[in-house]
Amino acid sequence: MNIRIGEIKDIKQLATVHYESWISTYKGIFSKETIEKRTYETVLEQWRPRLENKAVNYQCFLAETAKGEIVAFAECGKERTEKYGVDGELYTIYMLEAYQGKGIGKSLFYEVVEFLKEKGFQSFMLWVLKDNHSARRFYEKLGGELIAEKLIGDTDIVEVAYSWKNL
Ligand SMILES: CC(C)(COP(=O)(O)OP(=O)(O)OC[C@H]1O[C@@H](n2cnc3c(N)ncnc32)[C@H](O)[C@@H]1OP(=O)(O)O)[C@@H](O)C(=O)NCCC(=O)NCCS
Repeated sequence: MNIRIGEIKDIKQLATVHYESWISTYKGIFSKETIEKRTYETVLEQWRPRLENKAVNYQCFLAETAKGEIVAFAECGKERTEKYGVDGELYTIYMLEAYQGKGIGKSLFYEVVEFLKEKGFQSFMLWVLKDNHSARRFYEKLGGELIAEKLIGDTDIVEVAYSWKNL
């Protein structure tokens, strides 16, 4: 598996991974209506500004097979709220179901850690749905400390935050 920086030329494959893994991850957590409302096209359009106008300190890393099939990605950058005493954030990490549990997530995670360290960040955090137990065990295994809990918008869905201090 090769890890490299994601670019605009990767947008379709990144959106496919995001769309497919989002559904397989959240189908037991979000309502059927919420799952069905999300389309590949909406996901693709959300990716465009992220890759076209890369914000300072934003980065996207992806994992691809020897044949060039993108199977996972992670995005990171500056923490945007300044509420948690943490300066960096892992915004997303998603992988096709068939590739989970093979160490790819850990490789992407440490790529993000190295990038944030190089950029001078001191710490970072991430948000995950409280009911996404599998991802939470992954973050706990990698040393994340539970620091916050909040509702998403005006829903009754809870997300929790983990942080890694002293990068
Ligand atoms: C969460 C995710 C990124 C983890 O990546 P992964 O490649 O499956 O995890 P890895 O194989 O790299 O696991 C790394 C370590 O975490 C542990 N781990 C991973 N998932 C685990 C689980 N569900 N339960 C217990 N331990 C787990 C592994 O055993 C491994 O431990 P080791 O370092 O001792 O070998 C990936 O499974 C994924 O994309 N899931 C679906 C999308 C998702 O939930 N994203 C997060 C949204 S916030």
